[in-house]
Amino acid sequence: MPRLPIIAGNWKMNTTPHQAVALVGEMLAELDEVRGVEKVLCPPFVSLGAIERLIQGTSIKLGAQNMYFEEKGAYTGEVSPPMLAELCQYVILGHSERRHHFGETDELINQKVKAALAFGLNPILCVGETLAENEAGRTVEVVTGQVRGCLAGIEWPQGLVIAYEPVWAIGTGRAASGPQANAIMGIIRDTVAQLYGQAFAEGLRIQYGGSVTSANIGEFIEQPHIDGALVGGASLQAAEFIDIVRQTATLKRG
Ligand code: PGA
Repeated sequence: MPRLPIIAGNWKMNTTPHQAVALVGEMLAELDEVRGVEKVLCPPFVSLGAIERLIQGTSIKLGAQNMYFEEKGAYTGEVSPPMLAELCQYVILGHSERRHHFGETDELINQKVKAALAFGLNPILCVGETLAENEAGRTVEVVTGQVRGCLAGIEWPQGLVIAYEPVWAIGTGRAASGPQANAIMGIIRDTVAQLYGQAFAEGLRIQYGGSVTSANIGEFIEQPHIDGALVGGASLQAAEFIDIVRQTATLKRG
């Protein structure tokens, strides 16, 4: 079974609720028409409700950018899995900005992945090495350690997506090369095969993330282990994001 490519737009802490609705309005009709690619928008929490209503009846899916792992209770300011499960199909977990600005560890992310799965949300689990780790030749060790740590104790991560995002490539305009990313993603797939078997690993979708644009998406999508992209900056421009999704559909159709 070929894997359905998946392009997700991570809007990060950008767009007010009104701006978010306007941005979806700019891309909705054209995105909806593209077949053969799963299209996921990940706006800020405060816009999820409005966007969920806008995309009803379309082929566009919704994702959140983070989540707490507890179901409910006295956790002021946090957002729970069942809150998101009413609105979203996906949730980004362990993004490098969460790891670096908010101190998220593999242990915490592991609890979040478990909670997402328990509530029927598909986790987009982010892994990736820093520049220093890369230059020290530690990429494989770091990335496979994150995969194992974040999936520890999870019997069967149905619906999991992994995003390989080298930290040095995020928001820097300095993307990895297609073959470079593909090599690490092949190792991620092997690691998942060791945990869940070959068939599961072959069905697992792995995205590349880090300075993806309409100018370089082709280089990634043509690689065998790259099943899509997690797009930050370029997902905030309607024409750019639509172009990325369209190129993915065309190239993966072969
Ligand atoms: P970028 O961000 O495309 O702006 O580099 C990617 C991400 O952080 O998911």
